[in-house]
Amino acid sequence: MTELKNDLFLRALLREPVERTPIWMMRQAGRYLPEYRATRAEAGDFMSLCSNPELACEVTLQPLRRYQFDAAILFSDILTIPDAMGMGLYFSTGEGPKFKRTIDSAADVKNLPIPDVADSLDYVMAAVSKIRTALDGSVPLIGFAGSPWTVATYMIEGGSSKTYSKAKALLYSDPESADLLMEKLAQTTTDYLNAQIRAGAQAIMVFDTWGSVLEPEAYRRFSLASMQQIVDGLIREQDGRRVPVVLFTKGAGTRLRAMVDTGCDGLGVDWTTDLAEARELTGGKVALQGNLDPSLLYASDEAIRDGVIRVLESYGKGPGHVFNLGHGIHPEIDPAKVGVMVDTLREHSPRFHS
Ligand code: CP3
Repeated sequence: MTELKNDLFLRALLREPVERTPIWMMRQAGRYLPEYRATRAEAGDFMSLCSNPELACEVTLQPLRRYQFDAAILFSDILTIPDAMGMGLYFSTGEGPKFKRTIDSAADVKNLPIPDVADSLDYVMAAVSKIRTALDGSVPLIGFAGSPWTVATYMIEGGSSKTYSKAKALLYSDPESADLLMEKLAQTTTDYLNAQIRAGAQAIMVFDTWGSVLEPEAYRRFSLASMQQIVDGLIREQDGRRVPVVLFTKGAGTRLRAMVDTGCDGLGVDWTTDLAEARELTGGKVALQGNLDPSLLYASDEAIRDGVIRVLESYGKGPGHVFNLGHGIHPEIDPAKVGVMVDTLREHSPRFHS
């Protein structure tokens, strides 16, 4: 294996000293980049892009050519798992993800197959190894999946939702079927992430985008417990190096405290929680990743610079911080604004590590 030339991101996740704060950006490969839109047009549509390892590798590298990011993230989607379970994922432009079939009953949950991911998601593993070769040790590669609860919301609702009423109805009306669904997803997700690690992913992120819509007890049972199961089942070391795991429940707030106990290495924090408070809640036991409000990238260059410095000051001095947005970048953002964020971080973060 080629030696990693820039391991700031991995070191920061293990709370080891770094000379500056590393940065990557959620949805760094995406629609705000004209070159992404061009490659997606070449592929035909979003799923054709995901399932073509060459083009998925190309769009993964695009943001790294423009900005000095300290990590790459696999180009794929959290909904490849239900697709591999036979649910028929498709994207209609401007409408987000949709499924041809949905989970509507206890029988649907029982009949849901556990796919052999090495086979049905082989295109993802092919993309991972292609990206690793192309990166040639420049920066580490992040693999990812959605949390079982977040993925289940799409499987039950048939797409995006504002209220999650169908998904919550299943949890409350038939909790045993909901447990079985989470179990099937947790098992498949663990296999899938381990396959990504074997193919070359050097860190793992689990996206629990909709965990915070649940009340505390339901969050623990249906979201946190299944993430715990995934963390417990993951390969944690490869090629003599720890493979750090980051959990991200958007809007986690005070739930960050319980998330620490999963044994993860890092937690994603969105912009609604101050990093100083998150650091206190988590007692310095994990690294923190975040948390500039993505909408701040609509602002003037000066306001962006102030915002980046505020995030650095809020975390404070010392190791254990990975800079990121608090959620994915919006598609309308001017790519030049991302440059302002990255340059400001490069200039100002060293003094937080001296
Ligand atoms: O971050 C990256 O650059 C890596 C790629 C990545 C994508 N999706 C590509 C994508 C990652 C990590 C995801 C995760 C994902 N997908 C999540 C969790 C993180 C989050 O943002 O909350 C969720 C909930 C999904 C499901 C999903 N995929 C939705 C709801 C949508 C449509 C809405 C939207 O944001 O566009 C997608 C499509 C999608 N996934 C796009 C990209 C670049 C846009 C599709 C396009 O190009 O038309």
